[in-house]
Amino acid sequence: MSGEKKAVALVVSGSIAAYKAPMVARLLVASGFRVIPVMTASAERFVGGVTFSGLTGEAVLTSMWDSTFAGEMHVAIARQVDVVAYVPATADLIGRLATGRADDLASALGLVARGPRIVAPAMHPQMWQHPATKRNVAQLVADGVTFVGPVHGVVASGEEGVGRMAEPEAIAAAIRSAIGVQDLQGRRVVVTAGPTIEDVDPVRFLGNRSTGKMGFAVASAAASRGARVTLIAGPTHLATPAMVQRIDVRSTSEMGRAIEDALGASLDRADALVMCAAVADYRPAQVSAAKEKKGADRISIALVKNPDLLGEIGARRTALDRPVLVGFAVESTGDQLLAYARRKLVDKKVDLIVANGAETAFAGDTNRAWLVDEQGDRDLGTLAKRELADLILDEVKARLHTAR
Ligand code: CTP
Repeated sequence: MSGEKKAVALVVSGSIAAYKAPMVARLLVASGFRVIPVMTASAERFVGGVTFSGLTGEAVLTSMWDSTFAGEMHVAIARQVDVVAYVPATADLIGRLATGRADDLASALGLVARGPRIVAPAMHPQMWQHPATKRNVAQLVADGVTFVGPVHGVVASGEEGVGRMAEPEAIAAAIRSAIGVQDLQGRRVVVTAGPTIEDVDPVRFLGNRSTGKMGFAVASAAASRGARVTLIAGPTHLATPAMVQRIDVRSTSEMGRAIEDALGASLDRADALVMCAAVADYRPAQVSAAKEKKGADRISIALVKNPDLLGEIGARRTALDRPVLVGFAVESTGDQLLAYARRKLVDKKVDLIVANGAETAFAGDTNRAWLVDEQGDRDLGTLAKRELADLILDEVKARLHTAR
């Protein structure tokens, strides 16, 4: 392992997506890593080595047979790096890694390296769907390799499907999290997750489709980056992430009280509040103590508005001050999504809104997401909730450095 700086071997293989690998190198260098670029023979047909050496300040390694290198190159490089990341990884490279080949530097490095291995595949959707590729991927997952993507989108041929390489930000986030960077050490992060449930009577309630996965991913990512995390969870079946203090709540008012306790009356007990919870906007005006009996053909339930928990915190917080506030916006109207998200950013006086369409936001492990802040909108594409969690925390971290 390297001395002070954590080091990443960035292995580039021959796919059109190789043009995005320099972005990953740049993000890793910006995060303070030493990046050692390794290129397969076919990668050199797609992107120039000079780009990588320019960005990383390191010589690009292309062959194990460099006679000027003293010792065994694959062994020496594997010892120096904390992570080996394959960006992009072609179907061929994945196949070679899965079968333990060692006939070039890229594959041999993977066999010798002891730290995490990250694979960011890029290929035509039909290749990704092929049983041979599926077998190889399953083998590598069983071997402990972490996959980032591929994601759904338009691939080089112009066709659409799952095969596009994940976005550089998501890949860099996965690499950082594999290295176990403790960049939120000592920070206090409060996360809300899941739905809030409003009782109608002792057996019925009003709820929503939130499963809590996004909030739990944020809590887990923050804890693994060293933060002290309080997770305020509405009803969900998810297991509590390691090193996270969990507070279970049911209704919006219970969630409000738990947030109040966690942040303190002057909001100085936390550095950030990430409101992933799908908070019920209304509750029954009256909760019946006895189960309501069926009767008329048509009935109505009078609802009263719940307080806007995030909006109230935003209103109490003075500009630029702690805690950093992150909200979510889920909409079913695709064309209005970003406009509504921006309105929430302004109305709730928060630092960042994570916008996602209702069709992908619930239950799944991936999200199609945008980040909306005062600088503008950023399309993150489709990404795993855990990757999105790390990107949100990157934004939180950046604001913690600038806040008073
Ligand atoms: N939120 C909150 N309290 C509420 C409702 C929402 O704190 N009573 C938070 C959510 O946790 C989320 C953000 O506000 O982070 C956006 O929630 P959303 O329901 O989309 O926004 P609303 O302001 O309720 O607007 P609308 O339902 O009209 O879209």
